[in-house]
Amino acid sequence: MIRRLVFAANWKMHLGPGPASDYLGRFLAATPPRDGRTLLFFPPAASLLTVAAALQERSDARAGAQNIHWEPKGAFTGEMSVGIAQEAGAAGALVGHSERRHVFGETDQQTGFKVRALLAAAMDVMLCVGETLAEREAGLTEEVCLRQLAAGLADVAPTQLPQVMIAYEPVWAIGTGRNATPVDAATVHNAIRSALTERDATAHIPVLYGGSVNAGNAAALLAQPAIDGVLVGGASLDPDGWAQICATEA
Ligand code: PGA
Repeated sequence: MIRRLVFAANWKMHLGPGPASDYLGRFLAATPPRDGRTLLFFPPAASLLTVAAALQERSDARAGAQNIHWEPKGAFTGEMSVGIAQEAGAAGALVGHSERRHVFGETDQQTGFKVRALLAAAMDVMLCVGETLAEREAGLTEEVCLRQLAAGLADVAPTQLPQVMIAYEPVWAIGTGRNATPVDAATVHNAIRSALTERDATAHIPVLYGGSVNAGNAAALLAQPAIDGVLVGGASLDPDGWAQICATEA
């Protein structure tokens, strides 16, 4: 059976519309669709329209927002609603990325609001969870990840779970060059999978790993059956390097 894998690029605050368009021209030419593989791009909000347009012919690829606000409209300077993201071509959004949580102070409760707003609009959710180094050293890794998972998925109906993906991203591994070993990552993935199975044994929810994934470590991570894909920041910014990662044999 062909393994289903998700390759998600989180461009963070890089690649405006012009560079995004050049990037996708190059990347898509190098990356033909492959059975079972889904490609996701999370560009900055201002590049969403461009990215969504570039992906229009590719049923294997979708654009998503890096963040949304849960209210449908209003006086929220600097924020983007689900409806606006959708109009700009987003099929979904990241929720609870560690930079949102730890740099911008997003709370567990707010992640729940965001997940519910996205699901109500039939958008896809990539809920990110992960522990800090201090939490890992205190032996709290699974407790923190499962708490963030439960808060993010609070009040989500089993019928909505097929719209959800999870990304396990240990905070200490993001942008640091230090990644979790494949076995360490798989241990947390298995704990997340058990919690998801308790909610609904039938839904297949991809659980991705993120944090300093690159062309040199992607194959070993994806060799773990518990790892259903990767969410990549730094190493997704170069179209040739990202094409190489998306071609990883697993
Ligand atoms: P990184 O970022 O690949 O640069 O560590 C991953 C992420 O933040 O999603």
